[in-house]
Amino acid sequence: MFVYKTIRELEEYVAFQRNNGKSIGLVPTMGALHAGHLSLVERSVADNDVTVVSVFVNPTQFNNPADLATYPRREEEDIRLLAGAGATVVFMPTVEEIYGTGELDKRERHEFSLGGVAEVMEGKMRPGHFQGVAEIVSRLFAMVRPHRAYFGEKDFQQIAVIREMVRTEGIDVEIVPCPIKRADDGLALSSRNALLSPEERAIAPEIYRVLSYSVGYSHDHSVQATHDTVVERLDSMPHLRVEYFEIVDARTLQPVEEWEESPWIVGCITVYCGKVRLIDNIAYRTPAAEK
Ligand code: PAF
Repeated sequence: MFVYKTIRELEEYVAFQRNNGKSIGLVPTMGALHAGHLSLVERSVADNDVTVVSVFVNPTQFNNPADLATYPRREEEDIRLLAGAGATVVFMPTVEEIYGTGELDKRERHEFSLGGVAEVMEGKMRPGHFQGVAEIVSRLFAMVRPHRAYFGEKDFQQIAVIREMVRTEGIDVEIVPCPIKRADDGLALSSRNALLSPEERAIAPEIYRVLSYSVGYSHDHSVQATHDTVVERLDSMPHLRVEYFEIVDARTLQPVEEWEESPWIVGCITVYCGKVRLIDNIAYRTPAAEK
């Protein structure tokens, strides 16, 4: 496995592989890797000749400086895990390598057209977040020119936004969504779980437990009642505070009022567990083709 820090090394390597007819998979990450990330890497290794994993805590997608400062970083451990998962290349650039040395917020930025899927939920709560995600992911796509790129479904909205970015920018890449990986107690794996205190970690699995319960509940209750029971149950627990919970059409991400409105409906939630912001989602209705 090669570890590259510069764009030049990365581009030379992938150009050589592409010119030799090799297929290239890209797994973009922000590091502090867990089994969820490794499942994306393993899927890419199975699908492609070459798997490039980027490890880069992208400052332009953080709208909260404290969140950026406390984001977990474990480079040595990440390299070890990626070698074990069969990655071909790890790309670990500095912020200057990606964005140059100018001040980040004074730079002139490309404005991506991300449509309605970027305006709801995370888009509302974290202004500028998806522009930052689109910026780094489009740069990685331009460097690696992957045939396929792999993203976890925990960030359900992010996948919709990246699909829209790929469509509007005319980028030729297949976006491959991969299922959420959970701990044995149901908590969706996330790099942020490392920031939870033991008490918070013990209560955090309630998020998925309540979401799972609400799927059965939704069969004889309205969308509104299902929404309210999730929020009330989670808000009544110590350490947990729901930031938003939206029950939406999985394709447009616009809220639904009736279960009959769409064949594919998901509930997307963000919950503060102490100071740690956790996200998760669950399908309420799934069309046969998506099962
Ligand atoms: O999902 C993430 O970890 C990040 O948003 C991504 C896609 C690596 C871009 O920085």
